[in-house]
Amino acid sequence: MIDLPRVHAAYQSELDEAIHAVVKSGSYIGGPAVAKFQERLTNFMKTPTFGVGNGTDALQIALMALGIGPGDEVIVPAFTYAASAEVIALLGATAVWCDVDPQTFNIDPESVKLALSAKTKAVIAVHLYGQLADLEALENIIGSVPIVEDTAQAFGARFTSGKHKGKFAGTVGAFGTLSFFPTKPLGAMGDGGAIIANDKLLFDHALSIARHGQSKKYVHDIIGVNSRLDPIQAAVLNVKLNHFDESLKRKQEIAALYQDELASLERIELPKRVGYSSHVWHQFTLKVIDGNRDDLQSSLNQAGISSMIYYPISLADQNAYKNMVHRMPIETSRLLCKQVLSLPIDPSMSDEDVLYICQVIKQYF
Ligand SMILES: Cc1ncc(COP(=O)(O)O)c(C=O)c1O
Repeated sequence: MIDLPRVHAAYQSELDEAIHAVVKSGSYIGGPAVAKFQERLTNFMKTPTFGVGNGTDALQIALMALGIGPGDEVIVPAFTYAASAEVIALLGATAVWCDVDPQTFNIDPESVKLALSAKTKAVIAVHLYGQLADLEALENIIGSVPIVEDTAQAFGARFTSGKHKGKFAGTVGAFGTLSFFPTKPLGAMGDGGAIIANDKLLFDHALSIARHGQSKKYVHDIIGVNSRLDPIQAAVLNVKLNHFDESLKRKQEIAALYQDELASLERIELPKRVGYSSHVWHQFTLKVIDGNRDDLQSSLNQAGISSMIYYPISLADQNAYKNMVHRMPIETSRLLCKQVLSLPIDPSMSDEDVLYICQVIKQYF
């Protein structure tokens, strides 16, 4: 889906130099590369941030900092990656499913209304595929219930209108969480993640949890975890942040080309752009509405084209989560599992690569 060595080749010497500097420095936990990246990330987001081990840890730490535990409910879409719900169960709390919008794939605020209860302690709003969930509509429904923005797939996306205009994904809720999994919009060469929080008390609490519950060295006030951003990954991220804008621009061009080329096909629906958000195109996900999604995927496969189904089974239908609460229908999530297909969107793709994929799809139909 994404040829990372080819993406990295464009600035290989910068990467080699940054990694080598860490190797030579002897600072293998924390150190200057991590400090520099955290500072740059905070400046970029215009909101305080700190690094952790991965995006799943970031979600878990955010929920721990909100005091979520047994007896509490957290509302989460049934159509997302497992990590968004796993962390709720790990803390002994209960995931309550809500549905997503059939056009945007993001959390449906109206369905959250039906999932709310007196036990609701947080809502996880996932910005799926790179476009922002409608947080303003969500806030109007949930009032003061804290939002954790799962921003794993939407680094760099911004509100372009409304109450949050100009703000980046992850900076609106009580917490935002980032994943630097290599294929993510800002990807490392291994695992990495970050936490974003405006509120100083919540920020400090989350930071302490991520550092074994320490308030100062060897003073442990609360039970925490060990979750740190690795310095070699921070060094890679410092370089990749320099190239984020050009990578995003290329992905936007590729998405526009897909949209133009595939617009006339009646048996698919192209990704809908909402008016209030930019799109960082973590995925270019279309819907095959004639029931033949798997058949189209086989044809792409035969033509040497990768494609992916994010996600084939709703979380509510996974064995691991069968004890979680099902308070309202999640039929859109279930239908999307049968319809969605993500096409390659890799900043190192040429226009010819994209046109070839479009030609195979058009021939199929
Ligand atoms: C929506 C979502 N949330 C959370 C995660 C977890 O991130 P990580 O793999 O860094 O733990 C991912 C990564 O795949 C994701 O896509």
